[in-house]
Amino acid sequence: MHYHKLEQFPKDFLWGASISAYQAEGAFDEDDKLLSIIDKYNHPKDVANFEVASDFYHHFKEDIQLLAEMGLKAFRFSIAWTRIMTFDESRVNKKGIAFYHQVIDECLKHGIEPIVTMYHFDLPYCLEEKGGWANRATIDQFLDYVQVLFQEYGDKVNYWLTINEQNTMILHPGAIGIPETGELPTKKELFQINHHVLLAQAKAFKLYHDLHLKGQIGPAINLTAMYQATAAPADAIAAHNWETLRGWSFLDTAVRGTYNYLFEKYLMDRKLYPTVNNGDFDILKAGKPDFIAINYYSTATIAASKNDGTDQSARAGDQQIMLGEEGVYRAAENPYVDKTPYGWVVDPIGLRLTLRKLYDRYGLPILITENGYGAPDTLEVNGSIHDPERINYLAQHIYAIQEAITDGVQVIGYLPWSAIDVVSTHQGFNKRYGFIYVDRTDSDLKELKRWKKDSFYWYQKVIQRNGLN
Ligand code: BG6
Repeated sequence: MHYHKLEQFPKDFLWGASISAYQAEGAFDEDDKLLSIIDKYNHPKDVANFEVASDFYHHFKEDIQLLAEMGLKAFRFSIAWTRIMTFDESRVNKKGIAFYHQVIDECLKHGIEPIVTMYHFDLPYCLEEKGGWANRATIDQFLDYVQVLFQEYGDKVNYWLTINEQNTMILHPGAIGIPETGELPTKKELFQINHHVLLAQAKAFKLYHDLHLKGQIGPAINLTAMYQATAAPADAIAAHNWETLRGWSFLDTAVRGTYNYLFEKYLMDRKLYPTVNNGDFDILKAGKPDFIAINYYSTATIAASKNDGTDQSARAGDQQIMLGEEGVYRAAENPYVDKTPYGWVVDPIGLRLTLRKLYDRYGLPILITENGYGAPDTLEVNGSIHDPERINYLAQHIYAIQEAITDGVQVIGYLPWSAIDVVSTHQGFNKRYGFIYVDRTDSDLKELKRWKKDSFYWYQKVIQRNGLN
């Protein structure tokens, strides 16, 4: 639908940017931080690991100062569970607690709203040794941690995100590293893990509301609308299959406290249904989110399954992510969209569509917690970094959000990935997303100096104007 005039962004729109603890902080074993699965898992050898990352742990003041200069209204970061809990009689690590107080206070000092993710892929390794999320006891451990977060930071933080991209964890577990055994959990185990994470999340929602804290809490899913490859009805069913199994099945439980009907049938048919204890659905129903956060990068295009053993294939340029599922769907090419240098589909209209579908379904406010353009950048001798493709990508997506707002969708903020350059999940430091360049390479830490990219100055103007020109 074309409009005569687009609506303005709301006055209190949360213009921001995002990072996660393990991809930005470094200091992986400093100040008694425990190791997480990320620290112990195997990652591709030829790219940067997460030990130093962007060294946000030692640069956070300078970084937040730069974010303030860019004009950010909000900054999303995650807290590392492994810096907070000790899993011994001391219960908490005072140095870790103090670190995040400093980060939050630094944001508040600059008038930046801290938006906190409680869990961004980095399970404490000591819990993994006891079975990780497959062990139901991890739910209580998570709640213990969450209780500390609310107690410490509850009066300073207004927006909480429970679990980052639960669907990536479950559907593409290899994306965040490979266990030392070389073996990823089976599908059956993954859906048990999924059930436990959903319970942990619902309990966190409930606890937050029971404490009557002043802010809001929600899940953060990687969401994308699915296109059918052709007008063939079988393609339409396949696209619906995957849209449900990849996105709605996670959110339906988070919002409604039930398992989606198609998801249930899929699990039962394939003997993947998790063990569900008496009362689990009461727990799921008792915890409600106030808003939904989504990470949106690309749409996917879907063809009917052939169910002949060939439905699965590796994502272009990325052997660690498999697309397609036997008897469910096949990945197809979309001739109408561009791609990033890493082969990710660029589809701003798809964001508008995704926002509409999400709002249709739940009617809850939406916070966009990730969106961005991952590509190599070049630091010029004069210290400039020209990233016109990133600016173009972000501008198109901001326009699409404005269109969605004009459609009537309630979008409350936009927090592109990433505030500063961080280590990509499994593709190192060559693939950059930041507004602020961090001067290091995969193999050379250099001085980790910060430089402002062209996109920094561009986003600064967008925020000043409260939207595009
Ligand atoms: C999201 C994750 O899936 O995508 C981030 O929440 C991640 O942690 C981002 O970095 C971009 O993906 P990648 O693989 O390019 O780092």
